Amino acid sequence: GHSSTGCHASLATSYMETSAVADLDWENLGFGLVHTDFMYIAKCGPDGNFSKGEVVPFGPIEVSPSAGVLNYGQGLFEGLKAYRKTDGSILLFRPEENATRMRDGAERMCMPAPTVEQFVDAVKQTVLANKRWVPPTGKGSLYIRPLLMGSGAVLGLAPAPEYTFMIFVSPVGNYFKEGLAPINLIIEDNFHRAAPGGTGGVKTIGNYASVLKAQRIAKEKGYSDVLYLDAVHNKYLEEVSSCNIFIVKGNVISTSAIKGTILPGITRKSIVEVAQRKGFKVEERHVSVDELLEADEVFCTGTAVVVSPVGSITYQGKRVEYGNQGVGVVSQQLYTSLTSLQMGHVEDCMGWTVEL
Ligand code: COI
Repeated sequence: GHSSTGCHASLATSYMETSAVADLDWENLGFGLVHTDFMYIAKCGPDGNFSKGEVVPFGPIEVSPSAGVLNYGQGLFEGLKAYRKTDGSILLFRPEENATRMRDGAERMCMPAPTVEQFVDAVKQTVLANKRWVPPTGKGSLYIRPLLMGSGAVLGLAPAPEYTFMIFVSPVGNYFKEGLAPINLIIEDNFHRAAPGGTGGVKTIGNYASVLKAQRIAKEKGYSDVLYLDAVHNKYLEEVSSCNIFIVKGNVISTSAIKGTILPGITRKSIVEVAQRKGFKVEERHVSVDELLEADEVFCTGTAVVVSPVGSITYQGKRVEYGNQGVGVVSQQLYTSLTSLQMGHVEDCMGWTVEL
């Protein structure tokens, strides 16, 4: 394993010049934390302005037991990826979108947020400092995890008096243990992820804590994850614990509209555009659970999951299957288009990638 001590970090820096990529088993990356060399940290006091951040050795941070984030969940996170091109340069995918989403979430959670410029600059600094952890081309990506939290002490319920913006990174491979093979989902209709007026539309940490129990039940039954239905009608598709969902029927691709209860995914939004450019008709609307019976293909999208084909969905004891154990043609096509852009294998006609 890799130690997270400052000692490890300084050793790492000293041999950074001689080793372009870190010594890691690049063939077997999953989606687990690999300790890297550095992290970014910036603080914001009651004046609402963030300090000029710093890149420091990766390791534990100190917070008061009374911190707003620990007691009342005042926290947001983001996720984006960096890919290494064959020429060794590094590409980020739409980092300003994450910056904007963090700002929107911060508004909902009564937190100050870094500007888009500070966010993107911080991401770049963190990736460059951890450059040797960006996997070789084709072996995965560097997952970048920005955090924004109420780190100041509170006791009564109120916004914290101080905030911390941090970024850490980890090399990753496939999110699901199935790899690129289709995943099996279950609709657990006694659980809901978000309700109208709640925080489902922002990337608050609490949204992810609240899905753990349903996820555990699903995994115990052998499913990969849970697909949620809306909390009002218990009828329309919302999203999977960690990703958005799309259905394909002929030339039409449909996905749940953004209406405050689902996470506005950056991969979701990108896939909508990529599919439209390929000539598909894309509908963002209410997608009824009944439509799963008629769909040709179903797939999930997310930064972590990329485009994951769905092989089956179980609802009220009935199982519908897709893709004949394989990856559907449309899912495969969209996966390839998106990842070729992200990895710089094709020219970026969308202007989505940022080269470091
Ligand atoms: C991501 O896809 O980046 C996410 O933030 C989802 C998380 C549950 C891994």
